[in-house]
Amino acid sequence: MRILIVGGGGREHALAWKLAQSPSCEAMYAAPGNAGTTELGENLAVHDSDIDGICDVAQDHRIDLVVVGPEAPLAAGLVDALTERGILAFGPTRDAAQIESSKWFAKQVMQSAGVPHAGGELFETAQAAHKWLEILGPDDLPVLKADGLAAGKGVIVPDHIDDAHDAIDQMFAGAFGSAGERVVIEDRLSGMEASAMAIVSGTDILPLPLSCDYKRIMDNDQGSNTGGMGVYAPPGFVGDPEDVFASIHQPVVEQMAADGIEFRGLVYAGLMIDDGAMNVLEFNARFGDPETQAVLPLIDGDLLPVLAASARGAAIPRDAISHSGRAAVSVAIVSGGYPGPYDTGMPIYGLDAVDDAVDIFHAGTAIDDDGRTITAGGRVLAVTAVADTLAEARGIAYDNVRRITFDGSFHRTDIALRELT
Ligand code: AMP
Ligand code: GLY
Repeated sequence: MRILIVGGGGREHALAWKLAQSPSCEAMYAAPGNAGTTELGENLAVHDSDIDGICDVAQDHRIDLVVVGPEAPLAAGLVDALTERGILAFGPTRDAAQIESSKWFAKQVMQSAGVPHAGGELFETAQAAHKWLEILGPDDLPVLKADGLAAGKGVIVPDHIDDAHDAIDQMFAGAFGSAGERVVIEDRLSGMEASAMAIVSGTDILPLPLSCDYKRIMDNDQGSNTGGMGVYAPPGFVGDPEDVFASIHQPVVEQMAADGIEFRGLVYAGLMIDDGAMNVLEFNARFGDPETQAVLPLIDGDLLPVLAASARGAAIPRDAISHSGRAAVSVAIVSGGYPGPYDTGMPIYGLDAVDDAVDIFHAGTAIDDDGRTITAGGRVLAVTAVADTLAEARGIAYDNVRRITFDGSFHRTDIALRELT
């Protein structure tokens, strides 16, 4: 099969890496890709949000399967557009992607399906939202969410009720564009977070290993939220993974099918786990980033027929892949200043000094005119190590992270540590 990966981050490099290992992969393309994906195939200079452009290059390159990485093109209807042109695509339709692109849609599906989740109310005016905050009282701090997609920035967890009122004003004043025209005010939950991803074809689901990402920039979860500073898999605090998928993913996709919205693609549930009690905080309609960079290296076998079956809405060939039962730790190396402003164009040193056993997934990287690999984004690389134990994987990952440098590079030093102390 001729494959096109849409997107240019670490998740897309990891997907390209895994699918390029398939005996059925004849050609690999990425749009727009990064320096890492050029080692596996050809990058096409089309932005992932350019729906017509992606459809055109898929046709021009006689692509057999398009795999869509990011959420924005899914919510904009890329899979619908590709399907109209007769091109097979892995990922949900625009309607099915609402599980991610509308927090309120997701909540209603969970409500109907009896899936445990953070309760909440929908508000369409600032006035009604302020009134609700007053009813809640000053000590009852909620979580505020722009209903639509806001590039991962639409969730506000206020420290004080005044901050909640301010956030409401900002959201309705357009701080998140049209995503904030409707706002969900949600019960605040506490506990440990985990990510649960399953490949879905209608009501057929195939669970992937569970994982945990680290969103804050600094050690001990201090500082600003980022796109993800690292991830480990599997977590030790979740209980039986089968229960997670049977009590969350299965009822949700069955409910969607009953409502006439068949899901094909990947369902990612963000979970909060507190003393064994599990609640869903959010759904994503795509592979997690950076979760994918730790989860795919834990999967043995051929992922390509699995994604192709999901794209066709056919039964998933369950025996095509298996979980290795090992552990993975992935550490992000980011540009100095990220998630604020940062410089790009720094040459990256040490990429050829890493152990063969380690996988380097590129995110914000490019190749300059002299053929050097340079930084081109906030999150630059993810270094993933797989071993029999989490402690071993962590040791190998950090040993290799230290060999890679560029001007201003930064990484967290505590990925997976909480499971080991
Ligand atoms: P989301 O985009 O929904 O995953 O939210 C981003 C982050 O906000 C989550 O990873 C949590 O850390 C936090 N969060 C979201 N919803 C809640 C909630 N109901 N209670 C507590 N924290 C939350
Ligand atoms: N790691 C969180 C996400 O992919 O949205």
